[in-house]
Amino acid sequence: MTKTALITGAAGFVGSHLTDRCLQLGWDVVALDAFTDYYDPAIKRRNLAQAAGRSRCTLIEADLLEVDLRSILSDVMIVFHLAAQPGVRSSWDDFDLYLQRNVSATQRILHAARETSVDRIVIASSSSVYGDAETMPTTEMVALRPVSPYGITKVAVEHLAHLYWRSFRVPSVCLRYFTVYGPRQRPDMAFNRLISSALIGAPFEIFGDGNQTRDFTYVDDVISGSLAAAGLGEPGAVYNLGGGSTRTMNSVIAVLQELLDSPVQVRYIERQKGDARDTAADITRARRALGFQPAMDFESGLARQLAWHRSIMATETDIPSACSVNART
Ligand code: NAD
Ligand code: UGA
Repeated sequence: MTKTALITGAAGFVGSHLTDRCLQLGWDVVALDAFTDYYDPAIKRRNLAQAAGRSRCTLIEADLLEVDLRSILSDVMIVFHLAAQPGVRSSWDDFDLYLQRNVSATQRILHAARETSVDRIVIASSSSVYGDAETMPTTEMVALRPVSPYGITKVAVEHLAHLYWRSFRVPSVCLRYFTVYGPRQRPDMAFNRLISSALIGAPFEIFGDGNQTRDFTYVDDVISGSLAAAGLGEPGAVYNLGGGSTRTMNSVIAVLQELLDSPVQVRYIERQKGDARDTAADITRARRALGFQPAMDFESGLARQLAWHRSIMATETDIPSACSVNART
């Protein structure tokens, strides 16, 4: 039987890769996105352009806060809920927007799913739920103390998911993605800004001393983990999906310089509120339950993102740069 998946946030960075992969697997995909203007919606249309032309893909351009979810869910087996207002540093100003797009939107999906036969709802949570975690690498059992309002909304999302499982048997799984990179990365994120700046010879602004670490996760690995969670994830559970490439921003710049074979201009500015100092995923639980094992080595992953930036710059004149962004960081 052909599987039908609803993918919310399908035009975004991660959602568009997931849409492509589900179509490659022969699934029918209902791709839902509101094309919000957090960053240029033209970038999102480009992300989804190929997939949206496929007969197995139905595009619903709608806001989760308004759409009739019961009718959409009636034909769906799996939901990948990726739509959200992302960005840790930009989450201080318009908290209402974060509450609506992250917490209320998720509650609407879970509530609508109560009387449907949806098999699994895979929800994108975030390493930002940990904040400055007590231990590294960090297991799912560690206390959650976010350092950004965005992280607070993701904690609320996880609690809602658990609550709807306990109260109504809505079978959801939350995945804590750790800083994702690769082609189509959001324009407010570090590697997009770094590579875009380097290619035009502009300085990259680094927040703090550059010795902060992230467990960078290649987007294909996040997609593999998300698909595994749809089949094997235990309802009510949370899993870390990290890439095993924990490194400092300074070392990332060193790798990029080697790939470019030239120096990159860097300007060090103050650390930003909302940034955790370090992240590192303990992926034991995801490995055991989902068979999750990140496959991309860091240098190859960064080279792929660099190649993508070059191809975009070479072919597109209408979207001025992959890094045009309305994001407030
Ligand atoms: P993205 O902004 O590229 O994609 C999110 C998409 O959701 C956008 O296309 C946006 O238009 C859509 N959207 C937002 N609100 C909507 C609504 N109310 N109705 C319909 N569509 C709506 O972000 P991304 O980086 O691809 O992140 C995907 C998910 O993964 C998010 O939930 C994010 O919080 C989570 N996450 C991302 C990362 C990362 O490193 N990129 C890390 C951890 C968690
Ligand atoms: C990323 C995503 O943006 C969040 O949506 C997600 O929830 C989070 O990962 C997560 O893992 O949960 P972040 O780790 O801040 O957040 O990812 P980047 O924007 O790529 O930043 C990585 C590092 O580079 C951070 O230390 C940040 O301070 C730094 N940075 C970022 C800069 O030094 N300069 C920039 O211009 C941007």
